[in-house]
Amino acid sequence: MDDNNCGCWAVLKRGVCKPSAASRDSANTIPRTSLVYDTATETRYLNASNRELCPPNEAHLSSENPDPPTSDDKSPCQLLQFTFQELKSATGNFRPDSILGEGGFGYVFKGWIVENGTAPAKPGSGVTVAVKSLKPDGLQGHREWVAEVDFLGQLHHPNLVKLIGYCIEDDQRLLVYEFMTRGSLENHLFRRTIPLPWSNRIKIALGAAKGLAFLHGGPEPVIYRDFKTSNILLDSEYNAKLSDFGLAKAGPQGDKTHVSTRVVGTYGYAAPEYVMTGHLTSKSDVYSFGVVLLEVLTGRRSMDKKRPSGEQNLVTWARPYLADRRKLYQLVDPRLELNYSLKGVQKVSQLAHNCLHRDSKSRPTMDEVVKVLTPLQDLNDLAILTYHARLSQHGRRKKKPEGSQQLSNAHSKSIRDSPLNTGKQRCR
Ligand SMILES: Nc1ncnc2c1ncn2[C@@H]1O[C@H](COP(=O)(O)OP(=O)(O)OP(=O)(O)O)[C@@H](O)[C@H]1O
Ligand SMILES: [Mg+2]
Repeated sequence: MDDNNCGCWAVLKRGVCKPSAASRDSANTIPRTSLVYDTATETRYLNASNRELCPPNEAHLSSENPDPPTSDDKSPCQLLQFTFQELKSATGNFRPDSILGEGGFGYVFKGWIVENGTAPAKPGSGVTVAVKSLKPDGLQGHREWVAEVDFLGQLHHPNLVKLIGYCIEDDQRLLVYEFMTRGSLENHLFRRTIPLPWSNRIKIALGAAKGLAFLHGGPEPVIYRDFKTSNILLDSEYNAKLSDFGLAKAGPQGDKTHVSTRVVGTYGYAAPEYVMTGHLTSKSDVYSFGVVLLEVLTGRRSMDKKRPSGEQNLVTWARPYLADRRKLYQLVDPRLELNYSLKGVQKVSQLAHNCLHRDSKSRPTMDEVVKVLTPLQDLNDLAILTYHARLSQHGRRKKKPEGSQQLSNAHSKSIRDSPLNTGKQRCR
């Protein structure tokens, strides 16, 4: 991990995040369980949230959430505790037009607070924040709220979203984060009309990889378990930060190779061995990273029911292309047209292929992933430049007198099969 990206691991001070007595009493047991099994598309997936009520500083005691990672006591938990009224005012009474998005946890609102304090500020002044409110009948529960406070309260790194504070009042549960100007990667990849440029895709993949590498490489590793495009948030400069630690889990300790746990996460991203056995390792995150890398490369969603049956599961559809160097360019998001690096596509495809290895031990570590992605930021070998160079070469040849060389069959074939073909011409 490079120096300017080194993060900080801190011990959560017990008692800093004090829950109200009421919170301990109110039962919250709505199950979130859905089991899907599809051997053909390697997507058996159990998505369950066993909601248990325990305050943030007792979460460690739960068997599903043992002690989160600790280190020397370098930086104490400095989370702010907000009142519900403060957050209500900060978001203009949770105005519908301040909604930034909605997930399983509930709505996320934009708001403003004063610097270094919990008091609300006028819209446009002070510090802009994102306020996530747990809906009472939400799919994600108090347990995930607790895990979020526990993990994000003590992990600090440029590629993890900053948790500023929380509110726990009666049955209200809210989280206050730094505001991420550009929203989620999911938005940029799948919901916008303007395609995300190749260089930004590489920058985001690298930032997210550094976030995971930090989690895996700490003194007591953390497995993120919910790596997906909607959990990668972007600041104004397209720096990527991981959000949502509700499903994060302390990794195996000592000579243990894995932790055994219930299977949770998001359909389409989970590693097959974790889904089949419940054995969790950091290589499960590496697999999910491979899925996201494929989404970044192809502009296709990990699961897309609107596509023809053979194309709905991205990994299943992409594997034959990843395995064949000559077919790699057929994977590239057609919206990029020829605005991508030729070598970059090769390296990203190869990396995705390795991350998606069926044998988890053969997948790279996230540190290795960071090493592969880092130099890809500086590549300027855009397919469009090579295409124009070939076109002009072709034009010059055409002008030559009779008998001059025409574009050889081999040459035109290489244009058909390679990125020098336009997206439209490509066979998909
Ligand atoms: N800190 C933030 N700054 C700006 N926008 C945010 C922030 N956190 C969340 N959002 C927006 O709110 C949306 C919903 O986020 P949320 O994490 O609740 O759900 P999700 O990731 O889409 O789904 P899931 O519940 O499965 O994690 C995000 O996609 C993003 O657009
Ligand atoms: Mg999320």
